[in-house]
Amino acid sequence: MGIILNTDHLKGAVEDNALQNILPAIKKAHDALAAKSGAGSEFIGWLDLPERIPDAFLQELSGLAKEVQSNSDAIISIGIGGSYLGIRAALEFLRTRGKVPVYYAGHHMSADHLHDLLEELKDKRLTVVVISKSGTTTEPALAFRIVKKLMESKYKAAELKQRIICVTDEKKGALRQVADKAGYRTFVIPDDVGGRFSVLTPVGLMPLAIAGVDIKSLVEGARKAQKEYAVADLKTNTAYRYAAFRYLLHTKGKSIEVFSSFYPSMLYLAEWWKQLFGESEGKNHKGLFPASMIFSTDLHSMGQWMQDGVRNVFETFLMVDRPQHKVSIPSEKDDLDKFNFVAGKDLDFVNKQAYHATASAHLEGGVPNMTITVAQADELHLGQLFYFFEKAVAISGYLLGVNPFDQPGVEAYKKKMFGLLGRK
Ligand code: PA5
Repeated sequence: MGIILNTDHLKGAVEDNALQNILPAIKKAHDALAAKSGAGSEFIGWLDLPERIPDAFLQELSGLAKEVQSNSDAIISIGIGGSYLGIRAALEFLRTRGKVPVYYAGHHMSADHLHDLLEELKDKRLTVVVISKSGTTTEPALAFRIVKKLMESKYKAAELKQRIICVTDEKKGALRQVADKAGYRTFVIPDDVGGRFSVLTPVGLMPLAIAGVDIKSLVEGARKAQKEYAVADLKTNTAYRYAAFRYLLHTKGKSIEVFSSFYPSMLYLAEWWKQLFGESEGKNHKGLFPASMIFSTDLHSMGQWMQDGVRNVFETFLMVDRPQHKVSIPSEKDDLDKFNFVAGKDLDFVNKQAYHATASAHLEGGVPNMTITVAQADELHLGQLFYFFEKAVAISGYLLGVNPFDQPGVEAYKKKMFGLLGRK
């Protein structure tokens, strides 16, 4: 089963002929993408990336994985934004910390947080992965300085060359210089793939492989999706249908999209999705605001707002058809909490009813919604989802009339911060 998009709960919010009317604009966006003639076309290396990943590279990574898994108790993955979120999204989606647990640094500048992490890990056998496309980002650069000091106190130079692995630009940037000078192992981030589209480059594949994720299935899923979403046909191309509907809802005044799921393991996939859509679309005073919620947890906090707040919002649910485990609800003799009526049912059954109830209540409350469903939360479906959303945001960005592949806005705070820090 591929990715299923159910749009039954959009009825009334989008006219019946709207899809047909938007098809020419979708085709235009599709053609611009395919011909590399649209805005930002120098950054669309992700488009055919799945089929271009050499099997020999996946093999090389499985060799490295064996080595790291035999000599390390923990991996510290240093990176931010696109150099962080995809890895964490994958490991959480798969509900694993990996054969070797992955810890994260360089995605913040909290002294206490980094201090506590290094205290926890200082006596373990460590492999450090440093990821930065530009090689000049403050958060990972500073974290690497600090983590490197710990590594230098633990290991001799020859071993450091094995235990520190850098993922960066082929030629430019400070991290490339540092890695080359010290002789660390390096992997290259292609020039034509931006940070938020880079999860299927060595940025995501290398750390996931050494942590113990089945990256062959992940890539297989992405390859499947590349084929599936290659044609500008709104009946068969689910990614384009998703892009079309969210654009149509936007034209009806729905300026916020809430990505909702009923599994805590989707929290970081939602974070990855927010970077992908927020950074791709939010420019020139345009763009849908991407928000996320994890239900039923957030139904007990944000549920009120979703049901009855400002009606400028639509919702996209992400559901998983089959959970990995069965968890049966026990019967209790006294039934003091009065829940024996669901005794013997699987917890997932109740979770699914909560979803149906929420989708229906939100629709009645003025929040049109659609649902993306995958058969199960495994590597194959995650690979499909990554590519699905990348393809959708590219089309969606072109529909909005923005360059979906740049991010000039992220520089503003940096300029001011460097000013305050007195950088020359
Ligand atoms: O999308 C982007 O390019 C950014 O948000 C980056 O992902 C983030 O700033 C990290 O950049 P780098 O990998 O260059 O350190």
